Amino acid sequence: MYVTRLSLNNFRNYEDEKIEFDPGVNIVYGANGMGKTNALEAVYYFSQGRGLRGPGREAIRYGEERAGISLDFFRDGREYTGEIIFEKKTKKIYLNEIELKKTSQLVGRFVCVLFTPDELSLVKGSPEVRRRFLDSSIIPLRPVYLSALMKYNLILRQKSALLRRGEYGMLPVFNQQLAEVGAGIIHIRRAYIEGIKEIAAKVQYDISSGAEELETVYNSSVRPGESRAETVSLLLEKMEAMEESEKENKICFVGPHRDDITFRINGRPARGYASQGQQRSIVLSLKAAQTELIERETGESPVMLLDDIMSELDRSRRDFLREKISGKQVIITCTEAESESMRGNLIMVENGKIKGR
Ligand SMILES: Nc1ncnc2c1ncn2[C@@H]1O[C@H](COP(=O)(O)OP(=O)(O)OP(=O)(O)O)[C@@H](O)[C@H]1O
Ligand SMILES: [Mg+2]
Repeated sequence: MYVTRLSLNNFRNYEDEKIEFDPGVNIVYGANGMGKTNALEAVYYFSQGRGLRGPGREAIRYGEERAGISLDFFRDGREYTGEIIFEKKTKKIYLNEIELKKTSQLVGRFVCVLFTPDELSLVKGSPEVRRRFLDSSIIPLRPVYLSALMKYNLILRQKSALLRRGEYGMLPVFNQQLAEVGAGIIHIRRAYIEGIKEIAAKVQYDISSGAEELETVYNSSVRPGESRAETVSLLLEKMEAMEESEKENKICFVGPHRDDITFRINGRPARGYASQGQQRSIVLSLKAAQTELIERETGESPVMLLDDIMSELDRSRRDFLREKISGKQVIITCTEAESESMRGNLIMVENGKIKGR
């Protein structure tokens, strides 16, 4: 899978620009604040239906009413063009000029794996960072998962509003809906973690020359049942048990929005014990596992998006990453100084303008 062209129209700090990509290594470079991450974000939109920062409005260039991005890419030897039009409150999505009704119809066509410095906090940061990793990994593989998440979040907001207002009449209805949609999410997440944990452990073992055994454990509000129906009842039971506390605190305590992942290295929780280097290795191991799973399931290599990550890694981890991305299309952002030592299609960005080499 590879991208050939990205067009940006009133997107972030870009007015009207096109970027042509090579099937190999592409290096987007420039000073801070010039628009490197914005360009990567535009590509990322096509795999997730959402951006890196904020819900979507902020994609529109300051002072403008609408923005548009389009991406030409090849998959299975076929060419596709995706287009997203942002308006103040809505987003329109097209694939090969046909309008799609739902974002979930877009995701899954174009698949990329993103590495950002933000994710270096995956191990020690808040559970939200880990849930975001999980969601963004699953979305391109299971488009229905995105629909489930959106539905779940909507019901969750409604239930939270109820709790805040202290009107409990509809509570059982919302609990039932949350448990049903939530159980689906939990089962997909569990299956995904089952899918990556062995691969991640093997990679961690290799990076550490056999010194580190990585365990990845899914922690949900309830231990998932054998069947989805069983998980629904387990969730409902827990919601009932927590009802008084939810009313008192006006917070929804039960469900996959509270999920987390625990990492252990040689049996010890990484959150409390892992060194900086070990944390970085865990992130690399997870990303490598994510990439491998995509290749297994789709038969294609994802496009690798590397946002300013090389400078964050030491020599051996950098070499490891280079080896993992070789043979795939890579779009990497870095500063001018770093770009000097890199080989590939050089794309310079200056204040939202593409300057060529
Ligand atoms: N909607 C918008 N309209 C106009 N400008 C925007 C918009 N959203 C963000 N920006 C601007 O884009 C710039 C940031 O771009 P970006 O994050 O891509 O920079 P970068 O080149 O990756 O920088 P760094 O090297 O610091 O990571 C900021 O100057 C920000 O003000
Ligand atoms: Mg940046």
